[in-house]
Amino acid sequence: MNKFPKSFLWGASTSAYQIEGSIKQGGKVESIMDTFDERQSYPKGITGFKTASNHYKHWKEDIALMAEMGFKSYRFSISWPRIIKNVKGDVNLEGIKFYNDLIDELLKNKIEPIVTMFHFDTPNFIEEVGGLDSSNFGKLFESYSKVLFENYGSKVKYWLTINELNMFALVGQTIGVISENSKATKWQIMHNLNVAQARAIKLCKQMLPNAKIGPAPNIATVYSASSKPQDYTAKLNFDQLRNWIYLDIVCRGDYSEWFKNFLKATNEELFITPEEVELLKTAKPDFIAFNYYSTLTVEHATVAEYEKSLKTPADQQSGLVIPGVGKTVKNPNLEKTQFGWEIDSIGLKNTLKEIYDRYQLPMMITENGIGARDVLTDDNKIHDDYRIEYYQKHIIAMSDALKDGVDLIGYTPWSAIDLVSTHEGIGKRYGFVYVNRDEFDEKDMKRIRKDSFYWYKDVIKTNGKKI
Ligand code: BG6
Repeated sequence: MNKFPKSFLWGASTSAYQIEGSIKQGGKVESIMDTFDERQSYPKGITGFKTASNHYKHWKEDIALMAEMGFKSYRFSISWPRIIKNVKGDVNLEGIKFYNDLIDELLKNKIEPIVTMFHFDTPNFIEEVGGLDSSNFGKLFESYSKVLFENYGSKVKYWLTINELNMFALVGQTIGVISENSKATKWQIMHNLNVAQARAIKLCKQMLPNAKIGPAPNIATVYSASSKPQDYTAKLNFDQLRNWIYLDIVCRGDYSEWFKNFLKATNEELFITPEEVELLKTAKPDFIAFNYYSTLTVEHATVAEYEKSLKTPADQQSGLVIPGVGKTVKNPNLEKTQFGWEIDSIGLKNTLKEIYDRYQLPMMITENGIGARDVLTDDNKIHDDYRIEYYQKHIIAMSDALKDGVDLIGYTPWSAIDLVSTHEGIGKRYGFVYVNRDEFDEKDMKRIRKDSFYWYKDVIKTNGKKI
């Protein structure tokens, strides 16, 4: 195994709406995710994000468990609707205090906070000024960012702008992040988010010159399903729409020529102001954070196949069809999780190398993990050897990528403790710590260390030598 740098940020990740619960407490206003289970065809019985893992009440205990595992970092999101009360920008002091206390507790335990500023939970008041469809979104995101930088800037060094900006465009409906009232095209929404991100980066540089800020899309190597030239063409084009346009805009300051031509060919026009063009040229990140679960395999797709695909919703890892570009197909060489997500650790190494070759910036893997139906034994144990095996392979892949020269500074897999999946409930567990609740019964929310908890503790203690 290649050595991990001494300062490597081992840790894990969560997001506010999937872990906190207490959606009506502490002055929090409503977010689009609060009613997700009512709006979507969630499996029956799921008690969803309303209670989640009740981290709002258990946060101290949760941080103590992270400290016990020896975390060097913890990536969590701040809930925008817990911080800002309305479209005027009034600040909720109780929300400010909640995260202040949490950050202080992390620092007390020598855990570096890595803050996602926005992880899917758009406050509903944004709808009053046009929601994600409007350029007002960016203005409000900037004023929210200012409140974050003012309040936490002296303590937080690492900032992530928007979680999986690309997933808003690609699977926004499935994961419930786009309102049913939305009229804008997905590319316009993507652009509005890009502008919001650029505003936050620019402001961060002005207000916190010593901080580091970066995007956090979901990036993954794309394979061509065969050596047929049209499948390879699909791979290259899919790469653009799945991966690169979201990093090009923030790292290089413009959309690729291919994407501009793609918009023309599909008769779409983005509404972009000259000020936005200038802003996007200047707001550059310090590092690239990205989430990685699996690779994609694509082949050429006809327009008829695209029309058919509109009737079957896709999630992050499956069933994407982009007309004239390509469609994802199964990769027969890869094993799958219980939830059908392909497992590809070598793909992680290759993704790291591709991103580094393209942008030459330090990188952080902010999500990676295996969703599983963990079983609690009668003697209160969780033998999640499949999770340990998954992480072993992915850590080897990271080490191999380091050997090939990439600059990787941290790993915060998904997730620190069990939380509610974006659209498959608490039954799809990711944590190192089991949270005792299920879809139908919120039980006692007891925290129980899984086998992977003890294993990860050793990994961190030996800086990745003992896996
Ligand atoms: C990422 C998201 O896309 O994937 C997380 O940032 C999410 O919020 C994770 O939980 C796993 O996806 P899922 O659908 O299994 O929860």
